[in-house]
Amino acid sequence: MQTIIEPFKIKSVEPIHFTNKEQRNKILKDAFYNPFLIKARDVIIDLLTDSGTSAMSSEQWAGVMRGDESYAGSDSFFRFEEAVRSITGMKFIIPTHQGRASEKILFSIAGSKGKYFISNTLFDTTRANIEFAGSEGIDLLCAEGKQPSLVAPFKGNIDLDALEKCILEKGAENIPLVIITVTNNSGGGQPVSMANIREASAICKKYKIPFFIDACRFAENCYFIKKREKGFETKTIEAIANELFSYADGCTMSAKKDAFANIGGFLAMNDESLAMKCRNLLIITEGFPTYGGLAGRDLEAIAIGLKEVMEENYLKYRIRSIEYIGEKLEAAGIPFIKPTGGHAVYLDAKAFLPHIPAHEYPGQALCTQLFLEGGVRGVEIGSVMFGKYAADHSLIPAPLELVRLAIPRRVYTQSHIDYVAEVIIQVFKRREEIKGLKIVYETPLLRHFTAKFEEVKYHI
Ligand code: F0G
Repeated sequence: MQTIIEPFKIKSVEPIHFTNKEQRNKILKDAFYNPFLIKARDVIIDLLTDSGTSAMSSEQWAGVMRGDESYAGSDSFFRFEEAVRSITGMKFIIPTHQGRASEKILFSIAGSKGKYFISNTLFDTTRANIEFAGSEGIDLLCAEGKQPSLVAPFKGNIDLDALEKCILEKGAENIPLVIITVTNNSGGGQPVSMANIREASAICKKYKIPFFIDACRFAENCYFIKKREKGFETKTIEAIANELFSYADGCTMSAKKDAFANIGGFLAMNDESLAMKCRNLLIITEGFPTYGGLAGRDLEAIAIGLKEVMEENYLKYRIRSIEYIGEKLEAAGIPFIKPTGGHAVYLDAKAFLPHIPAHEYPGQALCTQLFLEGGVRGVEIGSVMFGKYAADHSLIPAPLELVRLAIPRRVYTQSHIDYVAEVIIQVFKRREEIKGLKIVYETPLLRHFTAKFEEVKYHI
């Protein structure tokens, strides 16, 4: 097989600041073993997130210059609207400053006490916005999606039987909408099949429940459909995306992912009365409906990015570069979620560090060791992020202890990725010496952002 090369040339570069292990040891201690508290300039390879961290293309930068900054009815808005409509086919397109702003507007209008929102897996900001509106979020991921080492093509699918059962149990009138996340970020960046979307949509139609898509990584999902689902092999990504959105009544999107933008998002839907309510709330929280919290230049960057992300050479390289890390990890016997997903590699910290119990946070410990070893920054997705306390203050751990290494789009080259694999392998070789962590400071909500840790001194 021929090497799949990066489908771009580099026009502008940003220096990496190198540190040695001794310096990183101090940086880690000063940051209380929390990667969120490390300064970006002290990181060598930053895999904290793929959100807002993309490299924009020369076309997007040209669009930034062309941005029309008129308050109302700017040219940039109409280009943005056309780009979103050509993909989603939605009638009403509402720009927002990022994904969670779309969620805040949608769920504060659709949600209230006693309402349920069903998903394959809600992303944390989505769940938080649902709960903030007084409603409850319910995840109904398919069985394969819950087994980290099982290789299956569409581990992001919603459990269709459970969906129908849940609708009957809670009552269709109490479910304002069902929302499917593509790809399923919290579940390993795993894709959802077209058949699953089609059937979930049909179930919703049967019970007259609107069906939405959290479309942050729609293009990566469509590429997996093309590669893995019968009947889509020869279709273009745009045609696949058109079909995917044709089953939906609306969508939310963070343009910080599959639109290569550093900021931005939107809300789109077909229901006029819902759109009017959303626009009214948009005006008091985000801005006038033709800019919605964004500058004209941002709207341009998104409009162009949405087209670029559907280019097959790009998606082939994108998905291959994630798979490539997976192959290196597999060869070294390192446990991770299989198969690799669309935007990140998720290390299985429970299996990587079996000697560290959940209450000593193996995911966090692994994260800090990757930084110490090679200045690689990832994020814990485990008991620091999702753990809860029982009445006796003992930890109720998260079901999985993961470390997500999210790959920014078009930012790192193959040698950066080789380096990341080497760092992981080095840490794996000395895994038995790694100590757990204890929390010395935390906040009641979203503690992972600000918590402070110390190394556990004695291990029994
Ligand atoms: N939905 C999904 C599936 C996401 O992954 C994110 C953000 C959002 C909604 C919210 O979008 O950040 O623009 O407000 N995910 C980022 C991440 C933060 O690191 O995975 P936002």
